[in-house]
Amino acid sequence: MKWFGLSRVRAVKEKIDWNSPTPKHIAIMMDGNGRWAKRRGLPRSAGHYAGMQTMRETINMCHRNGIDSLTLYAFSTENWKRPKDEVDYIISLVGEFVQDTNVQELNENNIRVFFIGDISRFPEETQEAMRKVVGLTYNNSGLKIFFAMNYGGRSDILQAARSMLETNKGKEITEEEFERFLYTGQNPCPDLLIRTSGEKRLSNFLLWQSAHTELWFTDEMWPDFSEELFYQSILDYQNRKKRA
Ligand code: FPP
Repeated sequence: MKWFGLSRVRAVKEKIDWNSPTPKHIAIMMDGNGRWAKRRGLPRSAGHYAGMQTMRETINMCHRNGIDSLTLYAFSTENWKRPKDEVDYIISLVGEFVQDTNVQELNENNIRVFFIGDISRFPEETQEAMRKVVGLTYNNSGLKIFFAMNYGGRSDILQAARSMLETNKGKEITEEEFERFLYTGQNPCPDLLIRTSGEKRLSNFLLWQSAHTELWFTDEMWPDFSEELFYQSILDYQNRKKRA
C-alpha cells in the first residue's frame, strides 16, 4: 500500500528546505493499532504486528533523512491494564524485534538503541533481549532510538525527583540538573511529537520533555503511517518555525 503515491511523496519531500530548521529529535505516539485491526475484522494482535512493520519503516525513514533521535511510545505504564494476551503479545514483539537479523540491520545503519522507562517489570528474558540490543548497538553513532517501555511521564518525573534528592542532597536544584535524572538524561528534548489515530492528547508521554515541542496529529491509524505523512509532518514543522 505504501508503494502507491510515490509522486505525492516526492511532491511533499521537495517542498522541504533541508537547509532550514528540520526536527532533529522526533517522538511518536504509535496509536491506533487496535482500531486498524478491528476495521479489517482482525484480532488486535494483527494491528500490533502491522504497527511493528510501520515502526521498522519509520526507523529507516529517520535514518535515511539524517534524523538524530527517534523516541517511540511502545508500551505505557497504563498498558498493563489491557488483557493479558494482548500485553504478552506486545512484549513478544520486543523479542522479535531484537532478533539477530534485525540487529545486523541496525548495525549496518549505525543505529543505537536505548530503552526508557522501568523495564524491571518485564519478564527476565525480555529484559535480557533489551540489554542485548542496547549492548550490541552501543558503539553506533548515527540515529538514536529510544523505545519507551513501561514508560509514564509522571513516573519519570517522580523517579528523577527521588534519584536527584538521593544523589544531590542539599545542592541547588536547577532545571538542567533535574533533567539529568530523567530517563532521557542529557539527550535533547523532542522538537516534533507525532500522534496518529486522531487522538489529541499527550497521554502521559514525555510530560517534562515536551514543554517546547511542536505537536503534530494525523487521523491515520499507526499501521497506515506513511512516508508522505512523515515528510508532511517535517514540512509543517518547518513552516511553523519559519512563521515563529
Ligand atoms: C497503541 O495502539 C499501540 C501500542 C500500545 C503498542 C505499540 C507497539 C508496537 C508498534 C510494537 C512495539 C515493538 C517494539 C520492538 C518496542 P492501540 O492498541 O492503543 O490502538 P487503539 O487505540 O486503536 O486500541
